[in-house]
Amino acid sequence: MKNIVIFASGNGTNAQHIIEYFQDRTDAQVVQVLSNKLNAKVLERATLLGVSAMSFNKTAFYKRDDVLNVIKAAQPDIIVLAGFLWLFPEKIIQAFPNKVINIHPALLPDFGGKGMYGMNVHKTVHAFAKAEILKTPAKKIYTGITIHKVTPEYDKGDIIFQAKVEVTESDTPESIAANIHKLEYAHFPEVIKGFLRL
Ligand code: GAR
Repeated sequence: MKNIVIFASGNGTNAQHIIEYFQDRTDAQVVQVLSNKLNAKVLERATLLGVSAMSFNKTAFYKRDDVLNVIKAAQPDIIVLAGFLWLFPEKIIQAFPNKVINIHPALLPDFGGKGMYGMNVHKTVHAFAKAEILKTPAKKIYTGITIHKVTPEYDKGDIIFQAKVEVTESDTPESIAANIHKLEYAHFPEVIKGFLRL
C-alpha cells in the first residue's frame, strides 16, 4: 500500500477528489491531510471522508520540525500540494527527495510565481486573453494545468504533466476557473497514480 500526504490551504475540492479516487483502490490511500489554515474547508472534507486532518502554523512548519515529524510518521510515497499557498520548506523537500509535487492552475512557465494562485491566476489569464483576442481575433489562446515537482522556489520544478483548455472571448475569470477545476479533477488523481507507478 502506497501512502499519500496532501497539503491544501482552502476549499480542498482537489483534495476531496484525490481522496475519493484512491478510496476506490486497494494499492494507495490518502493517509494525512495538512493545512496552514485552521478553518480550511479541506479539513472538514478530509474528516468527513475519514482521513486524518490537521492544521499547523508557521512556527511548526518553518522553525520547528513538528510538521516534518507528522509527515515522517505518515511514511509518504508522495506529498501532494493541492491548492497549497505557502512556500514549501527546503528541509521537507530534502527529507523527501523527488516525492513532492504541486498543481498550478496555468500553463507554466507562464502565469506562475509568488502571488499567482487561485483566482489571481485566472484574472490575469483572462485580461491577457482579452487583449490578445482584441489584437488578433483569429488567434487561439490557451490556459491549463501544470503538475510539477516542487523545489524551494515557487512554480519552478520539472514539469510532469500539462493539459490545456481554450480561453474564448465569452470567458470570464469564473468560467476559466471552472474549466481549470474540470481539468484538475480529470487528470490530477491519474497523474498521482502514474507517479506512484500503479
Ligand atoms: C486549484 O485550482 C489549484 O490549482 C490552485 O488552487 C486551487 C485550489 O482549489 N493552486 C494554486 O493556485 C497554487 N499556486 P481547491 O481548494 O478547490 O482544490
